[in-house]
Amino acid sequence: MKLLLSEKEVQKKVKALARKISQDFSGKEVLLVGVLKGAFIFMADLARQMTIPVKMDFVRLASYGTGIRSAGKVKLTKDVETPLRGQNVIVVEDIIDTGITLKYLSRCLKARRPRSLKVVALLDKPGRREVNFHPDYVGFRIDDHFVVGYGLDCAEEYRNLQGIYVLK
Ligand code: PRP
Repeated sequence: MKLLLSEKEVQKKVKALARKISQDFSGKEVLLVGVLKGAFIFMADLARQMTIPVKMDFVRLASYGTGIRSAGKVKLTKDVETPLRGQNVIVVEDIIDTGITLKYLSRCLKARRPRSLKVVALLDKPGRREVNFHPDYVGFRIDDHFVVGYGLDCAEEYRNLQGIYVLK
C-alpha cells in the first residue's frame, strides 16, 4: 500500500470544500445526501466543517445484471427518507469513476423537484469516465489507481484508514 493523500491533506481539502459550499449556499439550508457506503466518513467530516444549517440523508445503489457497475445498470436499493421538493440537495460521494452511478442518481433525484441539485465528490477519476458527468465540487482529481481508505474499501477492508492509499 502506498500513501496517496495524507490525513492532513484530506482534512485540509474537506475544510476547503465545506467553506466553498457554505459560501455558495450562504443564508440557505442544505440537505446532504450521502451515497453509502463509501461516502459516510467524508460526509461526517464535511458536515461538521460546514457553517450553514445542514440536514442529512443517505441513499445506497447497487449494480445488477452482469454484476459489474460498468455494465451501466444501477438501481436504488435504499432511498432517501426526506421529501426533496424545494430543498437544496447536495449529493456527497467519495469517488467518481465511470460516472454511471451519479448520472443515474442525479436523474433520479432531479425528478423529485429539488430547488437545486449539486454533487460534491472527494475524488474524481476523469480518465475512467464512460458517461458524460461533471461534479460541481471536486476534492482531488486522481489517476486510475485502485484507492482505499477514508471510506473507500477493498472487500470491505480499509474504510477506516485516515489517509487515502493506492493498493498495489
Ligand atoms: C463506488 C463509489 C461510487 C461508485 C462510483 O461505490 O462510492 O458510488 O463506486 O463508480 P462509477 O462512477 O463507476 O459509477 P462502490 O460500488 O465501491 O460501493 P461502496 O461505496 O458501498 O463501497
